[in-house]
Amino acid sequence: MSSILVLYHSQEHGNTALMAEAVAEGARAAGADVTLINANERRITMDEYRAFDAVAFGTPDYFSYIAGTMKTFLDDWYIAKMSNPARLTDKPYALFISHGGGGRAKQPFEELFSRMGTKVGATVASQRRPTPAILEACRALGQQLAQAAHSHP
Ligand SMILES: Cc1cc2nc3c(=O)[nH]c(=O)nc-3n(C[C@H](O)[C@H](O)[C@H](O)COP(=O)(O)O)c2cc1C
Repeated sequence: MSSILVLYHSQEHGNTALMAEAVAEGARAAGADVTLINANERRITMDEYRAFDAVAFGTPDYFSYIAGTMKTFLDDWYIAKMSNPARLTDKPYALFISHGGGGRAKQPFEELFSRMGTKVGATVASQRRPTPAILEACRALGQQLAQAAHSHP
């Protein structure tokens, strides 16, 4: 069974958390074992991160950039990779983002997380409360990520 991490920041309204739960639902439906971590609640260690086969990352748009805790994750990841890159790169990954109407963080989000491995699907972007259609797109993304994790060597 593949193990999938859904790592996200959600704080203001829980919008990104709703998307994260839908991604997790899709991945579980495709047979993966899923762990959800809100980076606003705790900081994942890089040894924990190494154990996952694939990852979905989610962020709200904060000041046209990713949330601070997701930036902290990237900083931790980069520093750990410099001393031991094992299982830190080359993971299948998927992205989702919640915004209030601007949504300019999508570009830096995609650029920064392109370091993570092989992107699965297109970034799901949502304005404010995710609609049923957005939640369905998140479920489909989770499913696609689980399938990619199964076939990843
Ligand atoms: C500090 C802060 C800065 C924000 N900056 C932006 C922004 O630059 N552009 C935008 O579209 N939305 C912005 N928003 C709106 C959030 O991206 C939006 O409400 C999002 O759905 C919040 O996700 P959450 O409920 O999971 O925390 C900002 C919200 C906060 C709290």
